[in-house]
Amino acid sequence: MTDDMDALVAAAAEASKNSYSPYSGFKVGAAALTESGDVYTGTNIENASYGATMCAERVAIFKAASDGMRRIVALAVYGGGADYAYPCGMCLQVLSEFAGDISVYVAGKAGVKRYALSELLPHPFDKSKL
Ligand code: THU
Repeated sequence: MTDDMDALVAAAAEASKNSYSPYSGFKVGAAALTESGDVYTGTNIENASYGATMCAERVAIFKAASDGMRRIVALAVYGGGADYAYPCGMCLQVLSEFAGDISVYVAGKAGVKRYALSELLPHPFDKSKL
């Protein structure tokens, strides 16, 4: 376990405290490290129209992209209620747009596990398929 991983997981855990999740009660935080060394965090934001809910990972990724960042080099996800908080398929797809085969740290009350993005999303849809 590297310091970077610990710092990224800590940032994700901190972000989960801002979770707006009155419907599921499932508080998620994410932290994306960009190639410039910046850390962008996000939390899940739910809505009374459930389908309008946004996941923590995409909030973090979109914050980074909106600031002009185009390369994410590591991502951590923390879910307080889960043993390990795994990114959903849509978040993995969005992450793959801005990342190579990076480390994805999934964290929760059971600790932290590292995966390569290619393990979680072996066949991303990318521009080569368009
Ligand atoms: N959620 C995330 O924030 N990230 C994921 O990858 C999976 C699910 C959120 C969405 C919703 O607010 C709650 O967890 C339950 O699905």
